[in-house]
Amino acid sequence: MTTIEQIREKLDEIIVPHVIRSIGGLNLIRDISLKDGSVSISLASTALDEASQAWLKDKVTESLKALKDIKQVEITFSDAKPVDLNRIKNVIAVMSGKGGVGKSLVTSLTAIGLRRKGFEVGILDADITGPSIPKMFGIKDRPGGNEQGLLPVTSKSGIEIMSINLLLPEEDEAVIWRGPLIGKAITQFWEDVVWGNLDYMIVDLPPGTADAPLTVMQTLPISGVIIVFTPQDLTAMIVRKAVKMAQQMNKKVLGVVENMSYLYLKDFDKRIDLFGKSKGEEMAAASNAPLLGQIPVDPDLAAMCDEGHIERYQSDFIDSIGDALTAVKN
Ligand SMILES: Nc1ncnc2c1ncn2[C@@H]1O[C@H](COP(=O)(O)OP(=O)(O)OP(=O)(O)O)[C@@H](O)[C@H]1O
Ligand SMILES: [Mg+2]
Repeated sequence: MTTIEQIREKLDEIIVPHVIRSIGGLNLIRDISLKDGSVSISLASTALDEASQAWLKDKVTESLKALKDIKQVEITFSDAKPVDLNRIKNVIAVMSGKGGVGKSLVTSLTAIGLRRKGFEVGILDADITGPSIPKMFGIKDRPGGNEQGLLPVTSKSGIEIMSINLLLPEEDEAVIWRGPLIGKAITQFWEDVVWGNLDYMIVDLPPGTADAPLTVMQTLPISGVIIVFTPQDLTAMIVRKAVKMAQQMNKKVLGVVENMSYLYLKDFDKRIDLFGKSKGEEMAAASNAPLLGQIPVDPDLAAMCDEGHIERYQSDFIDSIGDALTAVKN
């Protein structure tokens, strides 16, 4: 006899159009009932246009009829708010005391590292006025969806991404928005996007410790913060400022990441401390949080970011960040 569990497994194999996630992964299954070989399934219609709904209906019917003893399949669609479908276990914000230190880079590499460990991962690009995530991932597709909600765009390795850049008419259009509007956009990225089931959402915060990152931290249910710095930061003060801000908002500092830590010359197998001695341990002590990783200056990495191929990058940081984050939580 076919069981509801087997039906769920079958549904999990079906990929939703426009976003490379399964029906189960997006948490679209509202109800399943099974009686005398007849299955009724209720799916959320959220963010699915008519063509996608029709396609899913056919696909689900066909795949379930292949199961033993299933004679009849009935599929209905019902409205649901995206926010009610979303189950996001960890929301991690990446911040820094000042701009241009590699926040977006650390956001991306962290997401890639977690994804390579097999986690379901999303990136919410909360840097509304300077969004840079889609470029690093080479994403040009527009998000799918309908009036009820938006679908994130899926990267090549399966990371869900939402950024204001994906919604603007022209990619390099400048966004000049005031605080309240930025807050509204962030709220919508949280409430109106069908993220589905995610193990991790990594949030790329706007630079600095001024209003914009504060707004985001207040708007999203952030469970922990990663702070990025470079050895160029002359004192621990800038990092402390970021730590203080996180603490004031009652957010746990998961750890610090040192970017542009050193230069590695592959051909000579030589490490050069470009900006003086690494401040990793010092900053970690100042933050009262672990040093999660150090990222060298790497021209290959810069090129991959520019060309939209960041997911091809191999590095110690990518390999270790998943375990480093899991270690903090336990
Ligand atoms: N370790 C590195 N090796 C090589 N290039 C790097 C490195 N870190 C950063 N870069 C380069 O610097 C650029 C800027 O980094 P990034 O966008 O991550 O900074 P940011 O802190 O997010 O900046 P902003 O404050 O403007 O948001 C990257 O696109 C990349 O080209
Ligand atoms: Mg950035």
